[in-house]
Amino acid sequence: MSLKRREFLARLGQASAAIALSKYAIAPGDLGQALAQEIPGKEDMIVHATSPFLLETKLQYLRTFITPNKHFFVRNHYPAPRLDIETWQLTIEGEVETPLTLKFGDLKQFEEVTLTTWLQCFGNGRSFFVPRASGTPWRYGAIGQAVWKGVRVRDVLLKAGLKVGAKHVASQGYDEPPPGAEPFIRSIPLEKALDPNTLLVYEMNGEPLPLLNGYPVRLLVTGWGGSASVKWLRRMIVTKEEWPGRFMQVAYRVPAGPTPPGANIDSKDMITATRQPVNSFFTSHQGGETLPAGEVRLTGVAYSGETGIDRVEVSIDDGPWRPARIVQPDPSTTTASQRALSWHHWEFSWQASAGKHVLACRAFDWLGRTQPTEQRDIPWNPLGYNYNAIQRIEVTVQ
Ligand code: MTE
Repeated sequence: MSLKRREFLARLGQASAAIALSKYAIAPGDLGQALAQEIPGKEDMIVHATSPFLLETKLQYLRTFITPNKHFFVRNHYPAPRLDIETWQLTIEGEVETPLTLKFGDLKQFEEVTLTTWLQCFGNGRSFFVPRASGTPWRYGAIGQAVWKGVRVRDVLLKAGLKVGAKHVASQGYDEPPPGAEPFIRSIPLEKALDPNTLLVYEMNGEPLPLLNGYPVRLLVTGWGGSASVKWLRRMIVTKEEWPGRFMQVAYRVPAGPTPPGANIDSKDMITATRQPVNSFFTSHQGGETLPAGEVRLTGVAYSGETGIDRVEVSIDDGPWRPARIVQPDPSTTTASQRALSWHHWEFSWQASAGKHVLACRAFDWLGRTQPTEQRDIPWNPLGYNYNAIQRIEVTVQ
């Protein structure tokens, strides 16, 4: 049962006091369990923060091909705005022939598109970087896959008409920064905005977008890190240059080449982070489990931005890499273009004998790219983006 707003805020106040008082005694994730029921539209999340919400999906909810809305992760910079679909509007401005103001009903004039794809925060896996990278210590749960419905950004931009020189499209939501802070504005190159899989979405898994995931309309930039997918859309500004704000020029930047762990690297010397690198991880186990000997079904996911997964392999105790079976999407019933967008679920049957064992998985995408063996081989960046080292977990078999 949902609590009244005042009671909810009072509880949040107590919760923040609890964090402040026992900073070292209560892990944010544990504290979050107590509050998990009161988060609008969400259930049973790992709560990294409540103001604004930073909610991680538990591993068990990544075992289904589609992640339920109530368990889908949330990464907010500022408090989520509560918008009314009747008064909501989006402006298309900047380097366009005819600036547009679109109300929700105006989106109907564009062809409706449905696609199944994952959305991952650039910082997913950040907690595995050594030395520690700053930012929310996500494990593997800042990702989820949904069936999204919406219209193509391309169709909207072409209706407005692009001026010569248009090169980027910046987007801003209705979320308000606190005094002195910059609004969350992110731009993508025009080429990506015109990609038929870059959408303005209003439906997630057959329902209106959840409040915390961008209701009523958000951008969905498939295959790229989540920050490009601006929520609660308010303005799209066509520009000649990449957006100059801090969410483009300071945050969400990665080195162009190899960089040793812990290197002191300036954001000016990095480039804007875009597509997500090939990655895979176990969903059946997270390490530390004790299992009975015999057949163990290992499962996991694999994905790579803007391309499909060719194969996934599993190695036990640093032994030979052996093929895992791709379970979903089924190649006999899906098109290659669908498979390029969605994550892959895989399984591997392991005959487990008594003792401690190290399990590892790795994926290869259609372009032959695979994951770095060690985390030190990921180009180091101080904010911990694009983690994709091969996962190695230890389990005990009895
Ligand atoms: N859009 C707005 N307006 N404000 C935000 O704080 N966070 C971004 C992006 N879009 C954000 C936003 C980031 S960093 C991520 S990872 C994704 O939303 C997360 O999407 P989700 O919260 O729906 O999972």
